Amino acid sequence: MRVDVHPILGNAPTGKSIILLVDGRPIKAIEGEPIAAALLASGRRVLRHTARHGEPRGLFCALGRCTDCVMTVDGQPNVRTCVTPARDGMVIESQVGLGRWKHLPLEKEE
Ligand code: FES
Repeated sequence: MRVDVHPILGNAPTGKSIILLVDGRPIKAIEGEPIAAALLASGRRVLRHTARHGEPRGLFCALGRCTDCVMTVDGQPNVRTCVTPARDGMVIESQVGLGRWKHLPLEKEE
């Protein structure tokens, strides 16, 4: 689902082919393209769900302003995937609401 030849912009830039792990499944991407672009190219439209009503959200502004595209990337929640370049081996997970930090140590009770 990529536009390889655009009537105005010409040929799509080419780059190194990489693999992203999205919710446990590998997808192909081009190194440096926005994560959301790779997800759209793989056919995925829903990137997160809202906290209150669990409603699906996907790419909206594609400029890094609306936060509809936030996902958990390599354990870090709330990453705007529309402006985050893809790197080989990234682990990307769907997010519900504000997401959860996986790598923070538990607070000790005293
Ligand atoms: S789609 Fe709006 S911030 Fe990414």
